[in-house]
Amino acid sequence: MAKSVKSWWRHGIFYQIYPRSFQDSSGDGVGDIAGIIERLPYLLALGIDAIWLSPVFPSPMADFGYDISDYTGIDPLFGTMEHFDALISAAHASGLRAILDLVPNHTSDQHPWFVESRRSHDNPKRDWYIWREPAADGGPPNNWLSEFGGSAWEYDAVTRQYYYHAFLAQQPDLNWRNPEVRHAIHDVMRFWLRKGVDGFRVDVIWHLSKDAEFRDNPPNPNFREGQPQHQKVLPLHTTDQPEVHDVIAEMRRVVDEFDSRVLIGEIYLPLERLVTYYGKDLAGAHLPFNFALLSAPWNARAIEKIIHDYEALLPAGAWPNWVLGNHDRPRIASRVGRDQARVAAMLLLTLRGTPTLYYGDEIGMHQVAIAPDQVRDPFEKNVPGIGVGRDGCRTPMQWSAAPYAGFSELTPWLPLADDFAHENVANLEADERSILSLYKALINLRKKWPELVTGNYVPMAAEGDLLLYRRQGSEGSVVIALNLGAEPVSLASEALRGEILLSTLMDRRGEKLERVLDLRDNEGVIIGTSGTHAG
Ligand code: GLC
Repeated sequence: MAKSVKSWWRHGIFYQIYPRSFQDSSGDGVGDIAGIIERLPYLLALGIDAIWLSPVFPSPMADFGYDISDYTGIDPLFGTMEHFDALISAAHASGLRAILDLVPNHTSDQHPWFVESRRSHDNPKRDWYIWREPAADGGPPNNWLSEFGGSAWEYDAVTRQYYYHAFLAQQPDLNWRNPEVRHAIHDVMRFWLRKGVDGFRVDVIWHLSKDAEFRDNPPNPNFREGQPQHQKVLPLHTTDQPEVHDVIAEMRRVVDEFDSRVLIGEIYLPLERLVTYYGKDLAGAHLPFNFALLSAPWNARAIEKIIHDYEALLPAGAWPNWVLGNHDRPRIASRVGRDQARVAAMLLLTLRGTPTLYYGDEIGMHQVAIAPDQVRDPFEKNVPGIGVGRDGCRTPMQWSAAPYAGFSELTPWLPLADDFAHENVANLEADERSILSLYKALINLRKKWPELVTGNYVPMAAEGDLLLYRRQGSEGSVVIALNLGAEPVSLASEALRGEILLSTLMDRRGEKLERVLDLRDNEGVIIGTSGTHAG
């Protein structure tokens, strides 16, 4: 397959590591960088191409690293800069790329920039953050709400003004209208790019610009009790502002100062807005994260519609991508169930576009129930009881049946799943029909069959529980048949003539198909159709 080295991120598979929960090497119950190095052989055997690390920078950990107090350091909890350099070298030596989380929307309130900024009105760093006079009644300047509960404005008694924070009060937003801020973050990017990191996943990139006039957000007519309170208003003036595209294009130019790096943006927006983040002439993010499957109703029609709409909306030349899980959303195995998690894996790894795997999804990790006294997530603490907590999808990786699942020698920072003695890497590696073996087989197939990477997406059917599509390459095609339900499905078509390359149940490889395919409950298959050649 002809591959431009520049497009590794098109052909490759990303794997998100939440460092606190991957592997502890220091025996403190929290994962660290040396732990990730220990586990590189596992990632290589899995077959992924690039890792994305959630933040490892110095942080008071109010939001577990998404509140950064030093953009160019490593938090001692995770190790040292030497550990970090060793990770990058080891990854690169084995052909893995590594990208970092860039969190430019806000810093920690402990960041020296903010410590300066809050000192006085005329401090040189004052305008690096968003300060406003109180409203006439002394209250917040407008009705903007924090995603983590309450007003997005925090009063500061020293200078008698409010500062804006889209998330926690300990996470003041930077003022991206200030060119000094832009330059400072660009230099942070260059710092890591010079160290050899292969790019960034940019945190809440669609939040960077806010309305210059600070207009109130309009009420959300669809708000229902039980939803997080910030959804009472529509974020019309706080996110997805037209100016953000210039900000992103500038970031992209920084990334492009270096060879073969990638810029990925975290964006929760409807598809028609999401695709604007590729930027004018594709000068924006290489990959605006496509989270549509995170909230998709699990039925064939709804999923087909998402794929269809996304494919239709993509600007010419834009490369698609797909995600099933991340550290903010409930685990796929809990959303769709254990059996469908296998079908979901086949979907993710056969769609057109770069897949990003979330650590542990490949071993079928489910949401772990978190007792009230074990809650760590500030979102759940501030907005309790409505199911927004993110701890359940951030629990320690289950490596083995050893104490603490081989993750740590000490009680981990979050509880382990109660089924870890069976559901762990060591066990599942030994089982050739396990979900882990399925993930490996899917990844392998994707490497072997160019149709699965570069082939066009051709919809064939979306009826009841059946989702059927083809990946059409120049020399052949592969057909994917997914049964999204718990009843068997039979189908017949000339287009099915071929050979089963893989079943999610791992027991039908090589089966010849004439024109009839019987799918068992919760089964997906990939069919190499006549005329298809392995690449
Ligand atoms: C992003 C991160 C999330 C974090 C938030 C604030 O959404 O993924 O974990 O809490 O930004 O930084």
